[in-house]
Amino acid sequence: MLAIIGGSGLSSLDSFEQVQEKAIKTPYARARVRVNLFTLGDTQFAFLPRHGKKHAIPPHKVNYRANIWALSSIGVKQIVAINAVGGIHDKLGPGSFAVPDQLIDYSFGRDGTFFETGLNQVTHIDFSHPYTETLRQQLLHAVNHVNKQAKIQRALMDGGVYACTQGPRLETAAEIQRLQRDGCAMVGMTGMPEAALARELDIAYACLALSVNWAAGLAEELISLDEIHRVLAQGMDFVLAVLEQVVKESASA
Ligand code: HPA
Repeated sequence: MLAIIGGSGLSSLDSFEQVQEKAIKTPYARARVRVNLFTLGDTQFAFLPRHGKKHAIPPHKVNYRANIWALSSIGVKQIVAINAVGGIHDKLGPGSFAVPDQLIDYSFGRDGTFFETGLNQVTHIDFSHPYTETLRQQLLHAVNHVNKQAKIQRALMDGGVYACTQGPRLETAAEIQRLQRDGCAMVGMTGMPEAALARELDIAYACLALSVNWAAGLAEELISLDEIHRVLAQGMDFVLAVLEQVVKESASA
């Protein structure tokens, strides 16, 4: 089954038909993880809002392990993650999309592995290519398909390095210059450890990133939260159309 992890701006999927809400007990949290099951035609898919239903869990407090474990426990084998980002690459201005192909993790102190206790042997995963290429291609295909039918085309970057910062504060201008020197194209706060945890449980994982602002120091003006919310809200119809297409294509794959 395919799951969608919704980020900022996507806490519910009102345009789809919800069939069930599951409250899943995990070894990683006292509270159950609530996963919504939806259908589109004959295809069932899962939806999990990363920041909670009320968008109240900040990036560094998200229980990534509980979320990924819960999805795996109901048979999820593919995850499409939606992430709002700040644009660093000059092609990633507000309102444009990217499907990154690499990441650098600058976050810290997050519970980032399932392979911690109760092991027979120290366990490592190969993470050379953090995003699953086949799923990345499906996502790119879906964006291009929606773009062809949309009134206003959205710029799309195929690839790029996603920088995951700790948050919840935004970065300093100097930090963004450093990320630029590191080769990062975009910066967000929620890409990790989500991607690594999915790999540990053998779940294919790809990210659809929506740029909602120029990263710190790259625009004349300071970053405005009102403006971020406006760009997010404007991008969500497009995101929903892409998700519908991804679900349709996953059914026929
Ligand atoms: N930095 C980090 N995370 C973000 C940003 C940003 O500029 N915009 C949206 N998420």
